[in-house]
Amino acid sequence: MLKKVLSFLMPITIYQKKSSLSKNLEVTWNNGQLVLDSKNTNYSFGSLQRILRIGLQEIGYKTIKEMETILILGVAGGSVIQTLSKEIGCKGKITGVEIDADIIQIANDYFKLNQVPNLEIVIDDAFEFVLKTKEKYDLIIIDIFQDSAMPNFLFEEFFMNRIGFLMQPNGFILFNTMLHNDLDNIRNRNYLKFFENNNFLTRTIPRVEQHNELIIIQNKS
Ligand SMILES: C[S@@+](CC[C@H](N)C(=O)[O-])C[C@H]1O[C@@H](n2cnc3c(N)ncnc32)[C@H](O)[C@@H]1O
Repeated sequence: MLKKVLSFLMPITIYQKKSSLSKNLEVTWNNGQLVLDSKNTNYSFGSLQRILRIGLQEIGYKTIKEMETILILGVAGGSVIQTLSKEIGCKGKITGVEIDADIIQIANDYFKLNQVPNLEIVIDDAFEFVLKTKEKYDLIIIDIFQDSAMPNFLFEEFFMNRIGFLMQPNGFILFNTMLHNDLDNIRNRNYLKFFENNNFLTRTIPRVEQHNELIIIQNKS
């Protein structure tokens, strides 16, 4: 409680762990809120949770509440899962895929992820998981970062095809991206073009917070 109050004056880190993928993982009290950060960016709660909340609001809380199957690629501390469960009141099945087992341990120990009902956590590479899964999803949230970098596979046609195939009719993709330069911008435009050419509806929410652009894809079939 004291640390929470003091964190309005300065951030107080209460747990740290080295990580090969994320470089460093830190649980910190910041302005009265517990957040999870990697070395150079916020992973969960804090700005990351605000960004994805804006995307979910754009799709519509009422629509999401009715969804039966939701897939989250990149779980970290589970802030979007808490938004779906506590704020939106989702009752459908949520599957979270996370490559790093240590992060899930942190999510359980500090952010009560294991108390979320109807949640299945799979420790796996998102790329491998989407190849194997037999389910289709009403909503796929792609939020994959290795520290502040996005792996290339997310933008490869093979992965994009597979993600499109896993969407239910009228299903949505919510994709959190970072734009640092013109090349990133071109990469995102090509991503949108790919889905438009395959008869999906697309929209973006640019500059959600500084460098983030949210992409929303809808399966209109
Ligand atoms: C920004 S965090 C996710 C935040 C989370 N969506 C939330 O709402 O709190 C990015 C996560 O992607 C995970 N990640 C990175 N590469 C991955 C991969 N290939 N497959 C699955 N997860 C991956 C990282 O370990 C990290 O936990």
